[in-house]
Amino acid sequence: MKKKVFSGAQPSGMLTIGNYIGAIKNFVALQDDYDCTYCIVNQHAITVPQDPKELKERTRGLAALYIACGVDPEKSTIFVQSEVPAHAQAAWIVQCNTYIGELERMTQFKDKSTKQDAVSAGLLTYPPLMVADIILYDADLVPVGEDQKQHLELTRDFVQRFNNRYEGDLIMPEPLIPEAGGRIMSLQDPTSKMSKSDQNKKGFISMLDDPSIIRKKIKSAKTDSSGVIEYDKENKPGISNLLTIFANFSGKSIQELEAEFADSGYGHFKEKLADAVVSVLEPIQERYYKLMESGELDAILDEGAQRANAYANSTLNRIETAIGLQR
Ligand code: TYM
Repeated sequence: MKKKVFSGAQPSGMLTIGNYIGAIKNFVALQDDYDCTYCIVNQHAITVPQDPKELKERTRGLAALYIACGVDPEKSTIFVQSEVPAHAQAAWIVQCNTYIGELERMTQFKDKSTKQDAVSAGLLTYPPLMVADIILYDADLVPVGEDQKQHLELTRDFVQRFNNRYEGDLIMPEPLIPEAGGRIMSLQDPTSKMSKSDQNKKGFISMLDDPSIIRKKIKSAKTDSSGVIEYDKENKPGISNLLTIFANFSGKSIQELEAEFADSGYGHFKEKLADAVVSVLEPIQERYYKLMESGELDAILDEGAQRANAYANSTLNRIETAIGLQR
């Protein structure tokens, strides 16, 4: 039997090339060897205020983008989280077996809660919902970017605790984080993470940015004054970030790129980087717009929800039986 993979992304904004490099590329790469389930985690998105109409559109859009990037609905299950009630049901059980102290320690909670005036309870209990997502599909492997590592550690702690406490049979998941590209940085501030919710749009490249915008954003990316193209994350975070992005969009290693551009300046390097990014994103964008107009997408999501409900309900049943929540 194939091992299982589960992952997801929030429809809280259009995906950036950071999400693509950190997670979606691996979603695609794992499909042939694993039994994969990919979720559009719309219930995670509502931990902060969302406009209902936009949330709905982005949810469909994210599904279309998964497919446009190469997630194949014939090989992988693609579904929307809120269409599978077992996630919210299991999340309650996870919450009851997780400590407030553990949740308050999550860096993402600390970051996000200081940026808001009114912090929802959901922002604190978001990681248990993520734990629920993962355990419901018996995931062995979870492809994510580095920022989700702590949530995966919480998941592993939960699985161990649950299995000990209830003689449970939950599967212990492992994160899969790309070695080069687990944390793509902002183009404007290479010491902070590239984020789809960044107020400064020049800091990220959205998967749907027009090629002319992509070229402009790369051209204005912050580097340094040395003009030497070499990977040095500590002292030259800007150019190191661009090298990482280039490697991921060209299939070349960082060392190969350093050699290729040894005699070039930043201007020429940035032009070639923009070519590489545009050549990957253009066909993805074409497929995306075609899918959004076709009726195909709803049929894929209906079928995905059906398969996901069947699997998740049977795991929920196992969990409820283990803790005595059944007659
Ligand atoms: P989200 O929507 O913030 O991001 C989706 C994926 O993209 C990765 N990522 C990055 N990778 C590299 N560089 C970056 N700058 C960058 N920014 C984001 C994220 O690590 C993530 O893998 N909680 C999750 C979604 C989620 C989930 C799950 C993931 C909910 N349930 C279960 C795995 C399994 C999130 O907010 O991702």
